[in-house]
Amino acid sequence: METPDPAVPAAQLTSRRRLLNVLLGSSFLSWMAVLLYPVLRYLKPPAEAGGGSEMTLSDADRTKVVQNGFSIVRLGTDRIIVFQDAAKTIHALQAKCTHEGCTVTYKADEGLVWCACHNGKFALDGRVISGPPPRPLAAYSVRGDVANQITIGRQGA
Ligand code: FES
Repeated sequence: METPDPAVPAAQLTSRRRLLNVLLGSSFLSWMAVLLYPVLRYLKPPAEAGGGSEMTLSDADRTKVVQNGFSIVRLGTDRIIVFQDAAKTIHALQAKCTHEGCTVTYKADEGLVWCACHNGKFALDGRVISGPPPRPLAAYSVRGDVANQITIGRQGA
């Protein structure tokens, strides 16, 4: 135990001790916040993780639909393939194959959606035609046309 310096008044010692306690306490709280914040962020994902319920294609994406036959766009964390069939109807399907997650493409010449990884084939409404995919591709609602504006959204949203 440290003996107080008789030359320092007791009130000053108390004041120094209080200051040290405040500094140590705030350091401890800061340290706890640095430790807990990432844990809490991990345990509670952001409310907007899936993004909004709709998105409008950019001019560049609409151009890709016309020139390349399809475009892959994002709606929140979802990748969506948007394409125009031979009858000029716009379709929007989940772009992630339900087998092992490869990105699908639209094959205009065959009129289907194709996964190159294991030759999975899907109909234009997302149903599995052949190959290993266990489930259909999720479909998204589509409004508009390539000449003006295309808005896609989650079904039922
Ligand atoms: S990942 Fe698409 S068919 Fe296997």
